[in-house]
Amino acid sequence: MEYSINTSVSIHQTKTAALSAGIFTDGVLSPAADMIDRASSGAIRALLKSEFTGKTGTTLVLRNLPGVASPRVVLVGLGKQSDYTARVHARAEQAFAATCVQLRVAEATSTLISISCPESSVRERARATAAATADAVYHYDAGFGKPDADARPKLKKISAWIGKSDSASAEQGLKEGVALGEGVSFARTLGNMPGNICTPTYLGEMAKKMAKQFKSIKVNVLDQKQITALGMGSFLSVAKGSDQPPKFIVLHYKGKIPAKAPSKTAAKHDAHAKGPIVLVGKGITFDSGGVSIKPAATMDEMKFDMCGAASVLGTFQTMARLGLPLEVIGLIPTCENMVSGRANKPGDVVTSMSGQTIEILNTDAEGRLILCDALTYAERFKPSAVIDIATLTGACVVALGAVNSGLFSKNDALAEALLKAGKQAGDTAWRMPLDDAYQEQLKSNFADMANIGGQPAGSVTAACFLSRFAKAYPWAHLDIAGTAWKGGAAKGSTGRPVPLLVQYLLNQA
Ligand code: BES
Ligand code: MN
Ligand code: ZN
Repeated sequence: MEYSINTSVSIHQTKTAALSAGIFTDGVLSPAADMIDRASSGAIRALLKSEFTGKTGTTLVLRNLPGVASPRVVLVGLGKQSDYTARVHARAEQAFAATCVQLRVAEATSTLISISCPESSVRERARATAAATADAVYHYDAGFGKPDADARPKLKKISAWIGKSDSASAEQGLKEGVALGEGVSFARTLGNMPGNICTPTYLGEMAKKMAKQFKSIKVNVLDQKQITALGMGSFLSVAKGSDQPPKFIVLHYKGKIPAKAPSKTAAKHDAHAKGPIVLVGKGITFDSGGVSIKPAATMDEMKFDMCGAASVLGTFQTMARLGLPLEVIGLIPTCENMVSGRANKPGDVVTSMSGQTIEILNTDAEGRLILCDALTYAERFKPSAVIDIATLTGACVVALGAVNSGLFSKNDALAEALLKAGKQAGDTAWRMPLDDAYQEQLKSNFADMANIGGQPAGSVTAACFLSRFAKAYPWAHLDIAGTAWKGGAAKGSTGRPVPLLVQYLLNQA
């Protein structure tokens, strides 16, 4: 999608296939809607209340208004004026773009950035505009023998009318939103691909492709032999039940970090030079459950069990496109969890890279078994923060549903920074407990720990398990089991939590 900025004085004279007009519930018109209303002798005000209430996310298409150059004016509901936030803005932009997709227009003009919103800057709203509209035009049809060309969204160009807002800030925001939208789409497509195509090898190839595309990214894809040499016995135990070879993907992003002006305080700062941020993504390209096999009904959805890995790859793409002045490491342990004569069995004991032994009581709790070795590997980077992202537990879906990702951390500053980024990006997380008292549920009679903690607080005991391998640095865990994809008729990957991660990195940069 292409984005441009429109700064014309009279929006009603803009020639465009569809033009948005934002309407609040209290009968208040946005600046653009007001201008269009006056130009058309009150055509909008005439139908407020009776035909359009302005409820958030609703739209109504008006055609051929007198005095308006655009043949279609799309009324977009903005809710109560006093409640207008960046989040409502993003929802409205999404609704407008979705309507334009339905109208099958190729180009449209949105006027929503021009609305004042004390809670957020023009740059933030421009970013949300590009990201939300990219989400609305996302379309996956790679799996069809003959993809239906007519079903593909035609919308290719969005111009944003910014009124009197600062155009440099809007430009910057749009640029960030485009990069974010592309990272999210990339993550969604990887998630949506079937398990027989999106294998560990395929994910490795995608990472290598990204390194070719961006000079700022270096990639090393370790194979089974190298993983064995590292002593990742826990990760390998999951992988050995599959005919697909495992990979351990190591990404290294380094943006241009501006040299700070030399001063006494800067020298002091350098002494505490901060290590890189490490993102760890669960890359189970298919989770059958293993010998503790899953029920058949929705097992197909376990192709999405690599959405943590996809979110790391999507975030790297966005970060490289924006050239953020940061150093970030990405770690992706990736394999299948399958059933075979070589697969893990309940009761097996394996030795992790950290030396701690694990009794595998349930082979379906495999995510933590591959992540724990990646967390140990992360120590070598002396990181300032490690964030793992995983579709880890069904229990997290029970606790939080599809609204919030589960956030677990003992580090308050890191947790607050991630919660804040989630709110800013409209990709929210909810902090969950991590008290030591839950650790007791992981007690094993035959190894240092068991890989499950029983039914109660299943997402917490999973996080507790990981915490035992993340003691050397500030660490946070995002359980995205409920947020990474949707089931049912709208089945598909969401690209979450790429927006949260990108926002967190933008805030660090
Ligand atoms: N990938 C699943 C978690 C999952 C399940 C995500 C359903 C989304 C929907 C994970 O590997 C898993 O199977 N976890 C088990 C853990 C249990 C055996 C302790 C679970 O949640 O049932
Ligand atoms: Mn599982
Ligand atoms: Zn899994």
